[in-house]
Amino acid sequence: MSSTTSKYDIVVWGATGFAGRLVAEHLTSHYPAAELSVALGGRNKSKLRRLAAELTGESDQAEIPIVVGDATDPASLREMAAQTEVVCTTVGPYTTYGTALVEACIEAGTEYCDLTGEINWVREMIDRYHDEAMAADVKIVHSCGFDSIPADLGVKLLQSYAVEEFGDPCEFVQIYLEDGEGGVSGGTLASAAELFEAAATDPIARETLSNPYSLAPPGERHGVDTGEQRRPQRDSIRSIWTAPSPMAAVNERVIRRSNALLAYPWGREFRCTEVIPTSAGISGAAAAGGIALGLGVGTAAMKSRLLRRGLRRFVFPEPGTGPSKAEMESGHFSVRVIGRGTTTDGPFTVTSEIGAELDPGYGATARMLGEAGMCLLRGETESPLDGGILTPASGIGDPLGDRLRDVGFAVTAGEW
Ligand SMILES: NC(=O)c1ccc[n+]([C@@H]2O[C@H](COP(=O)([O-])OP(=O)(O)OC[C@H]3O[C@@H](n4cnc5c(N)ncnc54)[C@H](OP(=O)(O)O)[C@@H]3O)[C@@H](O)[C@H]2O)c1
Repeated sequence: MSSTTSKYDIVVWGATGFAGRLVAEHLTSHYPAAELSVALGGRNKSKLRRLAAELTGESDQAEIPIVVGDATDPASLREMAAQTEVVCTTVGPYTTYGTALVEACIEAGTEYCDLTGEINWVREMIDRYHDEAMAADVKIVHSCGFDSIPADLGVKLLQSYAVEEFGDPCEFVQIYLEDGEGGVSGGTLASAAELFEAAATDPIARETLSNPYSLAPPGERHGVDTGEQRRPQRDSIRSIWTAPSPMAAVNERVIRRSNALLAYPWGREFRCTEVIPTSAGISGAAAAGGIALGLGVGTAAMKSRLLRRGLRRFVFPEPGTGPSKAEMESGHFSVRVIGRGTTTDGPFTVTSEIGAELDPGYGATARMLGEAGMCLLRGETESPLDGGILTPASGIGDPLGDRLRDVGFAVTAGEW
């Protein structure tokens, strides 16, 4: 971690964006100024000043400081990283704007967390910076939003419970996006488009999307898991139908990386699948078929260069915009994990759940990123690793569940 004499505890980099503002709002309103010094970072001084004035009015802070830089100016990022203990960044697409900041944080010894779901870019960070970040004892924790904290931490909490209660981890877990309602921002859709853009042009990005173990350490990018569920299926644990999940490609790879970085506590044969549950019977099968079809059409559209560009230009909301306050206030989500294991006494089934009465992609994501930053700042981590390109479960672990509970999330683990 950077020196304890840093000017700020946390810089929210990208504070003027849709997600960044919510992260800044959460940190400045939830923590008194005497406890936490937060600075707002971005490229536009006047926008930052306006935001600082608004947030100052909503908190006990006398004045919220700003830090100006540009993602395309590495010197400005080095200067920012040197002034803070932790950077929480929402400047995306990360494939375009993220790399120089990772490099600056490693150089400055500053802990880092982000919201990326761009696994092509995470793979690039692993290959370029994991060893350097390890040597520098700097934690670079990717995917600290709705992708991938509920799935990744949910599996970790479930496995901790299984080991505690049954003495063994589960060899198979299924992640269910059980319930969810929320909106999507221009920035998120731009980042999704960037992932498809990369897959069209970059062979490593294509390999990252096709290999279920692509985020594992080099030399360990193989295993028994066959990858995402692609069709409606009868569930092997509950008597219901399930559909493919749009986030499975990201979350499953992040979870497999967690297992690898933690030195395979869940075994080399460990398997995980993320799905959307529907219901039993014909109506459940039809609903799962409808979701699978919709996802297939959406993916095909994003794979076509022409359609992708058309969607970005004419359909997707502009970067900087997102769901309305009313949409966010009516949002909610629940991610359930169910795992099966076996002991000498026979099989067991355990479960965990992470959920909140908050819009998953924004209200909840802002708290998840902010609290991940708080864990890094306070050293509240249960991880064998002092540095590296990490996942939420491997870089922070169970203490993040406690912090999420404290800010209104339901976080549970128990028998199924
Ligand atoms: N994992 C999840 O669950 C999750 C959820 C939500 C969002 N996200 C991800 O978070 C990212 C942000 O989403 P968003 O909706 O907040 O996007 P957004 O509203 O477009 O915000 C992007 C931010 O990046 C800043 N920015 C752009 N170019 C910059 C540059 N050259 N230098 C410095 N700052 C620059 C923008 O500054 P200006 O204000 O000056 O334009 C803005 O603050 C996306 O990658 C999205 O996919 C992930």
